[in-house]
Amino acid sequence: MRILVINGPNINMLGIREPGIYGTQNYQALLELIARTAMSYNAEIECFQSNHEGAIVDKIQEAYGNFDGIVINPAAYTHTSIAILDALKAVGIPAVEVHISDVDSREDFRQISYAGMACEKRIAGQGIDGYRQAIEYLANRYVKFL
Ligand code: DQA
Repeated sequence: MRILVINGPNINMLGIREPGIYGTQNYQALLELIARTAMSYNAEIECFQSNHEGAIVDKIQEAYGNFDGIVINPAAYTHTSIAILDALKAVGIPAVEVHISDVDSREDFRQISYAGMACEKRIAGQGIDGYRQAIEYLANRYVKFL
């Protein structure tokens, strides 16, 4: 199966940005965790990170017909982007929303997730392990629906 992992703005700053909230592991460590997880599920994975909303919309559109699942942490765009929500709905690829921090226990402006409305599962507050859990979910789902 083919899984696309999309990370939004500032996720490339992991390890540097607010370590008390996002942890001390950097973006490279996240990529390595994703690669190890992909191998254990025999999945092909592409990772994409952008600080630009339109680039994320483009990437989701390009996934149509090319990926079986999407793991997405839209970061701050989670709470603002109807364009990302619409793109996920347009392609109809099974998607899992991941947040490193426990967004539910944070500020009021983080309580809405537009992208989440097009995702069948949400994993938050698990640190970078949330990405492993999301890939595991999609891999199991893929086998079930084969
Ligand atoms: C985040 C939570 C968002 O509210 C925030 O804007 C981020 C990261 C997370 O992974 O916990 O940039 O998506």
